[in-house]
Amino acid sequence: MATGNEGVHDVTKPPRIPLVMDVDTGTDDAVCIAAATLCSDAIELVGIGAVCGNVEIGKTARNTLDLVDFLGCDIPVHVGAAQPLARPLCTAVSHGATGLGDVVLPAARRNYAQGGVTELIRRAAERHRGTLEILAVGPLTNIATALSEHPELASMMKRITIMGGALRGGNMTLASEFNLYCDPEAARLVFESGCELTMVGLDVTLKPELPLSVFDRIRAAPGPQADVVGRVLDFMMRRKDEFGADDPNLHDVIALAAIVRPSLFKFETYYVHLETAGEVTRGMTVADFNNISKRPPNARVAVDIDVDGFWNWFVDLFGAAG
Ligand code: RIB
Ligand code: CA
Repeated sequence: MATGNEGVHDVTKPPRIPLVMDVDTGTDDAVCIAAATLCSDAIELVGIGAVCGNVEIGKTARNTLDLVDFLGCDIPVHVGAAQPLARPLCTAVSHGATGLGDVVLPAARRNYAQGGVTELIRRAAERHRGTLEILAVGPLTNIATALSEHPELASMMKRITIMGGALRGGNMTLASEFNLYCDPEAARLVFESGCELTMVGLDVTLKPELPLSVFDRIRAAPGPQADVVGRVLDFMMRRKDEFGADDPNLHDVIALAAIVRPSLFKFETYYVHLETAGEVTRGMTVADFNNISKRPPNARVAVDIDVDGFWNWFVDLFGAAG
């Protein structure tokens, strides 16, 4: 029956964010992708690019395609870079041989989308001129390639949110975080591109430590997202004991939360230098706290997070699934 409200746009709700994700799936990437598919009220997931990083490109791309297919999401997955811009690939051990720990997904019934990640980003930026956002949760090789081939993209996109870097410390060396360590030349190009950047680094992604109560609630929740995330979390909880790998840090989904729940974070704006030289400082993000460089800020940096608020958002997202 007609209500008379047909076609009336709900002005109380902000428009959905058109989003391209770039991932190196990876266990915590998988959690992030599953969460993103449950954020359809806030984001329109335009496409996903795969990049080498946690494991080699054949596995990161395959994991991504199998995951979105398992979740029943018809999101195009594009295959990106197989090597960093200027260095040999160094992979991470904590995601296991396949990149998804011991989680096995059925093979996707469809193929990768035509065209590389630069083509995905260029088409999306044209279609969503001024509103397109990127969530980059792997090494920045694909993003840097797109920006160097099409510098105009920097002003066509609204923002790039990066899981990477740290104002203090590292997880790959004393001073650098894995994604930016993996391809520091790409990271420098992105940080110098002039594009609006939000940096979600270890300063906030190491703070939420996975509570057992969250782990149990996810495993008890219905739906394919909770199913696969429950299995990934189970691996992440065991890997430290089984082969001395990392704690179950959910770095990537915290960067997603910075897009859909920015009020959970405290941000500060700095000029951030991307160091590419040095054994320890390769990939290090160095913030100009005292404006020594006299350069304008190039990044909004997440410096704190409401940890309880994040877990409440996370559990509600998955608990409401299915
Ligand atoms: O340092 C953490 C980051 O490196 C995460 O994105 C994880 O998936 C790995 O890519
Ligand atoms: Ca990642």
